[in-house]
Amino acid sequence: MCGIVGAVSERDVQGILLEGLRRLEYRGYDSAGMAVINGKPEVQRAREVGKVAALADAISANPLAGHLGIAHTRWATHGEPSQVNAHPHMSGDRLAIVHNGIIENYQELREELKAEGFEFTSQTDTEVVAHLIGKNYKAGGNLYNAVKTAIGRLRGAFALAVVHANEPDHLVVCREGSPLVVGVGIGENFIASDQLALLPVTDRFMFLEEGDIADIRKDKIEIHDREGQAVERSISRFEHGADSADKGEYRHYMLKEIYEQPKVIKATMEGRITATRVLEQALGTDAENLLENVRHVQIIACGTSYHAGMVARYWIEDLAGVPCSVEVASEFRYRKHVIQPDTLFLCISQSGETADTLAALRQAKKAGFRAALAICNVPGSSLVRESDLVIMTQAGPEIGVASTKAFTTQLTALLIFTLALARHNGLNAEREADIVKAIHLLPGQVNDVLALDGEIEEMSKAFMDKNHSLFLGRGSQYPVAMEGALKLKEISYIHAEAYPAGELKHGPLALVDSEMPVVTVAPNNDLVEKLKSNLEEVRARGGELFVFADKAADVKPEEGLHVMQIPSVHEITAPIVYTVPLQLLSYHVAVLKGTDVDQPRNLAKSVTVE
Ligand code: M6R
Repeated sequence: MCGIVGAVSERDVQGILLEGLRRLEYRGYDSAGMAVINGKPEVQRAREVGKVAALADAISANPLAGHLGIAHTRWATHGEPSQVNAHPHMSGDRLAIVHNGIIENYQELREELKAEGFEFTSQTDTEVVAHLIGKNYKAGGNLYNAVKTAIGRLRGAFALAVVHANEPDHLVVCREGSPLVVGVGIGENFIASDQLALLPVTDRFMFLEEGDIADIRKDKIEIHDREGQAVERSISRFEHGADSADKGEYRHYMLKEIYEQPKVIKATMEGRITATRVLEQALGTDAENLLENVRHVQIIACGTSYHAGMVARYWIEDLAGVPCSVEVASEFRYRKHVIQPDTLFLCISQSGETADTLAALRQAKKAGFRAALAICNVPGSSLVRESDLVIMTQAGPEIGVASTKAFTTQLTALLIFTLALARHNGLNAEREADIVKAIHLLPGQVNDVLALDGEIEEMSKAFMDKNHSLFLGRGSQYPVAMEGALKLKEISYIHAEAYPAGELKHGPLALVDSEMPVVTVAPNNDLVEKLKSNLEEVRARGGELFVFADKAADVKPEEGLHVMQIPSVHEITAPIVYTVPLQLLSYHVAVLKGTDVDQPRNLAKSVTVE
């Protein structure tokens, strides 16, 4: 949720930290701050409410030059967004800390520290950690030991970076439940919540493991694991190119990411399918053995990734004939479940750091699922490291808070996985070839939909002054409708609800009038005639319909019924193609309404707290 970045170098680190924060802003953007050590006896600190630009202005007026520093962009959990609650937090004037995560026992520690005379200036859980480390430091330790002792008292999830003016040549960092990566430079080293923050300065990264604590100097990185053993963490290279995290010619990251879909869907299928078959080995060396024995699939995810799981359930039960359950992670983790024998536990996550999804995975591993498979977009993420089998989507960095290309690449990976599973469950070669050929057509078909952008922009004007909307779909298009509704609500702040179209008359029809636009996805499939009857139900109540339909579905435009023709696509791959016009529609409504498209209010990209 929050973003942290740190640097130790021979050069001035202020610019590196600021650029790192700009790149981490998608993780939280209600306040930002920086602390630098520059030879003075005390830490130099700046904090501002609002976006990183506000901090940049403050720093340009009063520069914070120095060779060692930490910085933070916040998504408030404890205490309102304000300057006093912004990080870095300090204990005295020499120790500064930035934190991502939640300290669950902070109240109890706060009371204890208050009783010992520590004074608090913020409502945050982080300040408690600062004082805890400060107390240990005063007791005669060095910074490393002070941090190590302090984290033994913390319950919750955290990534921390700490500096002390008395020790101006290093920073101490640790992770427990929140991501932290070390960027390896030459004569300089860095840390951040996400490697994207550091791409201007390095492409070599070490991913810290849970429980690691690291001492970062400009020419040395020392890591110890939870047991206190010195450990090496391998260095991996960032493969997407440093400019993959830039907006380029696009007005917003979200639009860039929508337009990248043909390319990244192709990248996700590459090496995993031939012209007619899925290459099972490409899903992992153990995939064949694993899939042979799967009798049930349990999918867990949140938000958009959950919608991908909902689509996959239709595919898995239809093509593989294997029972499949899908649940949001925050519900799954807090209830008792009955585990069917030989159940594959499948987590879907763009970031691989979503706290609820990770917690569900950790529970599942203890509970006796057959194996854990992750569909994930971020190499080296916690989800990837903790799963038995991994299928990486190849979406590249997704910066816009509203997930777009992550969703369509998740669906591509899930369909390929489904075909591999189905082959073990009687799918014949002819049907497999038919669907694999349809997968190959996806990049071109998504391009065709992108060509409708101008018309969709025109259509979006009808939503500008509306407060509510309904999204309808049937079968595997129902989750597509859910995804469309989520996109509209999160970036345009218009209330949007999705319903399976057949459910309309069981309640939501009462809402329909001319002020309630109804968006519908209508590919040509077995359900299209039933869907058309549902549309009539809406029209009869004066509702205005916006239908994305296959030509062959024969939905005719009429008064109050706007139809946009979508090129004909295979029934199985249709959810991927029909998602794209809904993304564009939401995008244009948000632009017209003037909202902050890439960083919508109250949200953050990566939800690493519960
Ligand atoms: O990184 P994850 O896929 O685990 O994230 C899950 C959700 O937080 C995410 O999809 C969220 O719903 C997006 N903002 C939707 O656009």
